[in-house]
Amino acid sequence: MSDSANETLAVELRDIHKEFYGVKANEGVDFQLRRGEVHALLGENGAGKSTLCSILAGLYRPDSGEMLLEGEPAVFKSPKDALAARIGMVYQHFRLIPNLTVAENLVVGHPDLGLRIDQKELHSAATRLGEEYGLPVDPAARVWQLSVGEQQRVEILKLLYRDVKVLILDEPTAVLTPQEAAVLFRTMRQMAAEGRSVIFVSHKLHEVKEVSDRVSVMRQGRMVGGVDTADAEPRDLARMMVGRDLELPTRDQGAAEGETVLSVRDLVVESDRGLKAVKGVSFDIRAGEVLGVAGVSGNGQRELAYGLAGLRRPSSGTVILDGDDVSQATVVSHIRKGLAYVPQSRLGMGLAPGLTTEDNLGLKAFRKPPYSQGLRLVPSVFKDRGAELIEKYDIRGVQPGLPIRLLSGGNLQKALIAREVESKPKVLIARSPTRGLDVGATEAVRNLVLAERERGTGVLLISEDLDELLALSDRLIVLYEGEIVGELAAEDATSERLGLLMAGQREVEPA
Ligand SMILES: Nc1ncnc2c1ncn2[C@@H]1O[C@H](COP(=O)(O)OP(=O)(O)O)[C@@H](O)[C@H]1O
Ligand SMILES: [Mg+2]
Repeated sequence: MSDSANETLAVELRDIHKEFYGVKANEGVDFQLRRGEVHALLGENGAGKSTLCSILAGLYRPDSGEMLLEGEPAVFKSPKDALAARIGMVYQHFRLIPNLTVAENLVVGHPDLGLRIDQKELHSAATRLGEEYGLPVDPAARVWQLSVGEQQRVEILKLLYRDVKVLILDEPTAVLTPQEAAVLFRTMRQMAAEGRSVIFVSHKLHEVKEVSDRVSVMRQGRMVGGVDTADAEPRDLARMMVGRDLELPTRDQGAAEGETVLSVRDLVVESDRGLKAVKGVSFDIRAGEVLGVAGVSGNGQRELAYGLAGLRRPSSGTVILDGDDVSQATVVSHIRKGLAYVPQSRLGMGLAPGLTTEDNLGLKAFRKPPYSQGLRLVPSVFKDRGAELIEKYDIRGVQPGLPIRLLSGGNLQKALIAREVESKPKVLIARSPTRGLDVGATEAVRNLVLAERERGTGVLLISEDLDELLALSDRLIVLYEGEIVGELAAEDATSERLGLLMAGQREVEPA
């Protein structure tokens, strides 16, 4: 390597190996980080990204391999050593101390500061740093009072307070709204412009495209490639990530001709605080049609879903499900009439975290034979039928007898959708079904949704992911402050047009 190239390298990892009880988390990984770049580390769940980052941050020792800092060999025995070399990491699970204030957390573990900290100075330093980097915090707030996004800011500021030269962010956007992510991306660019290096771990291609200068891709413990982001086609990155050609499924063309399975008129639904969140919404869905609902989060999507699924009684308006008025009906009668609902939070509302996968798969059908005989449940049916569905829907990682919550996000979602579509619904309501999933799981879930469309189910797809909406929907409506501000056929929908409507600009009829 030439001297000039060496000069720009902040960190180099060579032939890193790390095994956990026989699992090869990193296998001969090479990685080079330049000064002043945002470097994305892309890979599916389990690819070895966190392990590699944790080695760089001194949390794990590699089994073998070398680390060079600005060309000099280095060995870290702990994160303290890494921090002394000005390398710091924000872990997926934060490590702040909840009972301390924001300002106090900034100096926890700081070697040069003893107990004699001037609180006032510390507070003004925290405020100044927050302002400088566009990450405002209240220095006096206790960490337990903060939102997850705010806690993340504190983690980042803590590292900036230590003046790190290398900042590692492990899937930081997983806990952020798109708006918060945009703010974080600006901060990342600013840090790079100052000559720091940022490692941005993600499995979201569009984020990687948006913020990084270079991208390195990992798969199954190995580094499979690295490119300048500007030269990287999303399709190629996806292929590198999953090791096969991956075409995110999109709907076939052609309008649905089926009969109307869901008809909504003048629907009004209130928010938790008793304000009108859905303000007189009307639409129809035909059998075999996907109606996409676009909108910035918080514009009534949640209440719309609740109102349609029977989870919240509409204040007024009618909902006709397959010919029956269900406007004021209970959740159970919605289900009996053919409604399936895939909520946004999989564990919580959708699945029972403590039950096994098999039991969860039977949760909707348990009142009927063969799951129950009279009042008695038949455990063997749950088990056998569960095993069948696990196979059919390719739900991976199931351990017999153990709770479903141990599954990965993608497999949880497959289980949830499997259960819902096995009831052969007339109407499927899905909210952000691929949120947080990696590309492989996203592909599987999209295929399940499209299979329902093929089968003749009417699908209401509520999502903040425009790519997903555009790929799957036959028609789109846009919600803004609880009202439909526009409707577009798939053929006419572009992200620009949708974006304008989502910002509240109504469509102007051409003269
Ligand atoms: N502390 C650990 N103990 C056991 N196995 C681990 C540990 N950390 C990671 N692994 C395993 O190593 C592999 C890579 O994991 P990880 O580095 O977390 O991947 P990623 O961050 O890309 O999702 C996975 O199979 C994971 O289960
Ligand atoms: Mg990880």
